[in-house]
Amino acid sequence: MMDSVRLVEVGPRDGLQNEVRPLGVAERVQMIEGLIDAGLKTIEAGSFVSAKWVPQMAGSAEVLRTLGRRDGVTFQMLVPNMKGFEAARDAGAEEIAIFASASESFSQKNINCSIEESFGRFAPVLEGAREAGMRVRGYVSCVLGCPYEGKVALESVVTVARRLHDLGCYEVSLGDTIGTGTPMAAAAMVRAVAQEIPMSAIALHEHNTYGQALANILACLEAGVTTFDASVGGLGGCPYAKGATGNVSTEELVYMLEGMGVSTGIDLTKLAAVAVTTAGQLGRRPVSPISEIVAERSGAGLVTLG
Ligand code: HMG
Ligand code: MG
Repeated sequence: MMDSVRLVEVGPRDGLQNEVRPLGVAERVQMIEGLIDAGLKTIEAGSFVSAKWVPQMAGSAEVLRTLGRRDGVTFQMLVPNMKGFEAARDAGAEEIAIFASASESFSQKNINCSIEESFGRFAPVLEGAREAGMRVRGYVSCVLGCPYEGKVALESVVTVARRLHDLGCYEVSLGDTIGTGTPMAAAAMVRAVAQEIPMSAIALHEHNTYGQALANILACLEAGVTTFDASVGGLGGCPYAKGATGNVSTEELVYMLEGMGVSTGIDLTKLAAVAVTTAGQLGRRPVSPISEIVAERSGAGLVTLG
């Protein structure tokens, strides 16, 4: 097993896009500053999608402009089409992420087009990104189940992942959108994708709806995956995936990995403080109890790990 992994913090995008109470630009910038201070190096800072569809992500350009560029930190912006790409480029984005689905119905509900049509939209985005010198990541949703179709064929996951990689995505993040995956299935799924694209180009994006996220991550870590998406406080969910709750909590993931001797470079105490503050602004508590426990214990000067 690797002795270090790369974490992609998706809290400011996936974590906030489904919240009843939208956070303003200043609060989102504050959240991201806190994540940088905690040691996160790749942060999905927002999305350039229709504000009619996802009002929570309005103002993403301002978030990115306010943040500016930071040494050693990459801000990734989610874009569905050329309109989103142009907005991301004009706001100064260095990296974007496109998102496809392994399930036809989810593709229709989420981005209003078929899988095939979505690739027609992605091709010019990749071309534009190449010209602008921007890196592109690709997501595949519903890799271990779909809210509309149930089971999703492994073949479809593998094909969509390979097509994203072939288009020029440097990494493909495999999304367990509604968290229905279980460990052996998750490991088998990443092994199947790794037959087509390098394991080093695969990331796992777990939602914790069924409480399986950490177990799935461990199984995929053992299978060779070294990049994992997570969301501070366990916030998150997709408005077009009914029942989808939060992503795996970054704090829980950091706690597990560091406890196993796998280095993340993240300060758990600072991370927990971001979770508590952000959840407070959203008018709720962090989804994962560890955030409040760590924040409380650190206030009392207690050691939190081990
Ligand atoms: P559409 O209606 O098919 O698009 O929506 P259209 O091209 O026909 O345009 C319709 C209107 O949207 C027009 O405005 C466009 O200008 C506007 P109008 O003339 O009606 O005023 N529009 C845009 N506005 C802003 N930014 C854009 C953009 N494109 C068109 N980029 C579209 C297609 C993709 C835009 C729409 O379906 C949409 O925004 N969907 C939201 C998708 C989304 O954000 N979903 C959540 C993120 S994905 C996710 O959570 C999964 C993930 O986490 C992995 C996992 O967990 O599996 C990544
Ligand atoms: Mg997601």
